[in-house]
Amino acid sequence: MRWIFGLLGALLVGGALVGCSTLLPAVTLDPAMAPTAPPPVLGPFETDPEVTTVAEWETRRAPLLRQAFAERIYGPYPPGAAPARLIVRDEIAYAPLAEEAVVEQWSVGVGGEDRPLHFNMVVVLPRNASGPTPLIVMQNFCGNRPAFRDAPDQIAGPLTPAFPMCDDAWAEPLIKMVFGRQINGPPFADVLARGYGVALFYAGDVVGDEPVSARAGLAQLYGDGAQNAGAIAVWAWLYSQAYDVLSADARIDAGRVAIWGHSRNGKAALLAAAMDPRIAAVIAHQSGRGGASLNHSVDGESAHQMMEEYDYWFPPAFADAGNGDRTLDQHQLIALIAPRPVLLGNSRRDAWADPRGAWAAAVAASPVYRLYGVDGLNQNTMRTPNPNARIWYYTRGGLHGVHTRDWGVFLDFLDARMGGADAP
Ligand code: GCU
Repeated sequence: MRWIFGLLGALLVGGALVGCSTLLPAVTLDPAMAPTAPPPVLGPFETDPEVTTVAEWETRRAPLLRQAFAERIYGPYPPGAAPARLIVRDEIAYAPLAEEAVVEQWSVGVGGEDRPLHFNMVVVLPRNASGPTPLIVMQNFCGNRPAFRDAPDQIAGPLTPAFPMCDDAWAEPLIKMVFGRQINGPPFADVLARGYGVALFYAGDVVGDEPVSARAGLAQLYGDGAQNAGAIAVWAWLYSQAYDVLSADARIDAGRVAIWGHSRNGKAALLAAAMDPRIAAVIAHQSGRGGASLNHSVDGESAHQMMEEYDYWFPPAFADAGNGDRTLDQHQLIALIAPRPVLLGNSRRDAWADPRGAWAAAVAASPVYRLYGVDGLNQNTMRTPNPNARIWYYTRGGLHGVHTRDWGVFLDFLDARMGGADAP
């Protein structure tokens, strides 16, 4: 009986929240109002002169930028860590997908022998694939269990405390009403029908998403270097660690592994793709400050505000990212992903994530795509992507969150830009 009152309360509160949130100001989708990105991405950078060829970009500039992002924005990846190792792999009987998919739970060890940690990953692969499956590797906010209908017990819960409401069945309708039906996981049947597999995990298993377990995980991975480390960099590194084990499985097409992240996980996904060329494509949905949006943009969340609320996400240096130093910004991060495809998702009433700052970064990253002879961002409207370009910028109406229609765009992007499920 109590749960009925809980549910009704949740629906009322959710309805009120959604109602109020339509009062949030909508961002004007005018490219002319976007900020400009300092400095030009191919221009001189510190002592490095202008870049004019792909070889100069790859051998000179890209390594310098990767180092600058580690020193000045995100902190370094964990030192001395070995490739990830598969500890256990169990098949899970999950009735709703039994016909079309094999569902497995993998436990993945990271951090080397002297600093062992692990995370749980659920791998969902089409049952009757005719060849190696292209894969979408995703991080989530609440652990893997709520990604599946009825939150099955066989799927491990998060190893550190996730959001307070993640475990409350009564809160689920409210969370989905505010943040969208797919906030906890993808529409599996749609993704499988297009020929993709999915691997999902909660990066908080290793470095938690609240101060206490975050600090403990960082200390374990970095030792004395922990005060200049941040959770976002570890979460990014975990996409690559997941790739290590997934690419060793013959059922998976190691050349077509895309990564996906929403919001804080989108920040991590962009960094991961910038650092690891094995990643074929990246979808960063509403990644905001510290993700696709320029740190120097004055709209939306500031680096300072983020550091006040989530001081374990970035090292202390990040609090200054929007201030004096105008030699490094997020367009250079997106440029490090070139010529690989990037999708930047946005929504109109998500001013906090600064959609125009992300547009500006995508524009300013594009000269590096052109250096490779392909289009980066090449669209006139901030709403609809150009299917032939490598950077897709998409804005829908509504709030911060993940909806089924967003997934339609994500899958169209992968079909168009990662060769689709039928590519050789
Ligand atoms: C907060 C935070 C954002 C972040 C978001 C999320 O709003 O300020 O930077 O992207 O949480 O992860 O949902």
